[in-house]
Amino acid sequence: MQITAAVAHGVKAPLTLETVEIEDPRPDEVLVRVVATGVCHTDMAMRDQELPVPPPAVLGHEGAGIVVRVGAGVTRVAPGDRVVMSFNSCGACPSCHDHIPAYCHDFFGRNFSGRRADGSSGLSWPGPGEGRVLGGNVFGQSSFATHALCPERNVVKVPATAPLEILGPLGCGVLTGAGAVMNALRVARGQSLAVFGTGAVGLSAVMAARVMGAASIIAIDLVEARLDLARELGATHVFNPGRTSVVDGIMALTGGMGVDYALDTTARLAVVGDAVRCLAPRGVCGLVGAMPFGQILPVDGGHLMSGGRSVRGIVEGDADPHQFIPALIDLYLAGQFPFDRLITFYPLAEINQAIHDAEAGRTVKPVLRMPGW
Ligand SMILES: NC(=O)c1ccc[n+]([C@@H]2O[C@H](COP(=O)([O-])OP(=O)(O)OC[C@H]3O[C@@H](n4cnc5c(N)ncnc54)[C@H](O)[C@@H]3O)[C@@H](O)[C@H]2O)c1
Ligand SMILES: [Zn+2]
Ligand SMILES: [Zn+2]
Repeated sequence: MQITAAVAHGVKAPLTLETVEIEDPRPDEVLVRVVATGVCHTDMAMRDQELPVPPPAVLGHEGAGIVVRVGAGVTRVAPGDRVVMSFNSCGACPSCHDHIPAYCHDFFGRNFSGRRADGSSGLSWPGPGEGRVLGGNVFGQSSFATHALCPERNVVKVPATAPLEILGPLGCGVLTGAGAVMNALRVARGQSLAVFGTGAVGLSAVMAARVMGAASIIAIDLVEARLDLARELGATHVFNPGRTSVVDGIMALTGGMGVDYALDTTARLAVVGDAVRCLAPRGVCGLVGAMPFGQILPVDGGHLMSGGRSVRGIVEGDADPHQFIPALIDLYLAGQFPFDRLITFYPLAEINQAIHDAEAGRTVKPVLRMPGW
């Protein structure tokens, strides 16, 4: 079958809309008609080879859509079901067994290789001949396209009462920020959290901290409009490091004690250093910003050791998407988690503009609508 997809060609190169051939689903796969898909900062990191998905490839990993066809062995979903596509995992390793598939032992292979586990791709340029294979299966979906081929594990059925066109970001960015707070750090009522970087991930963390009843929710960003939105979504204090010393500000705010938790979403080493410096004794700093391998953190070992402080990496909010995405939808429908406030819609044809606006800090979470939706 032929579909329209946005093809990534390499570092900083514009994505091009092209006609692409997509295979029929294999026995354990599902073909989804994409309704809308979010753009996550990680898509830019993949395009720019910081997370090296070999080009040419179809990126996109926050898709929502309707199942159109299923492989013979599929039992979880049926044609007509509404689904959110999330990250991919093997289903067989110790982490998958423990329902923490974000730490799947084959996470990189299953999400960033642009290939299925057997080395094949479901996408190619139409026509005969070699050299026409396109990278697909990115996060088990490659949803910058009108249709996506997904492993059954990768799709989460969602209720018809929820607006499908906004749900895609629950598959990655929103799940990551909310899960970091609710599942990984487990911020509790009355505690304090500092969120460094208030893009889609950071703002989702802010909203989740409010749901958890955190007493102090401190948001830090260089973009004033994002800090204004952070306040509206639950931040009790905001700091712009372009204007003031964040460490001094947070220490003053907490009476010299520091915060119970810090979350870095910027992936900048100096910011991580500040985040750790702000921790109270027994405080935990979570790292979600996507860092390339080889980055050595500027962390004071004495400060860490003496107060029993710790730093930990967090992937996809420690979430099991099958449990956590429906839980976030329930919170949204109950009016407690208004993640729709982060979204700006663009048609698929304006994907490069959407990416540009996100990189410029003008749009928090671009969501691309597919033609006809
Ligand atoms: N670990 C995971 O599972 C996971 C999942 C999704 C996204 N990510 C990563 O999380 C990060 C955040 O994603 P996003 O979509 O929210 O990106 P984003 O670019 O929208 O947000 C990052 C924010 O950090 C701010 N920032 C940059 N430098 C700063 C500084 N020095 N001080 C304070 N703020 C600063 C930016 O202004 C921006 O608002 C990205 O690195 C992304 O790749 C990780
Ligand atoms: Zn696994
Ligand atoms: Zn993502």
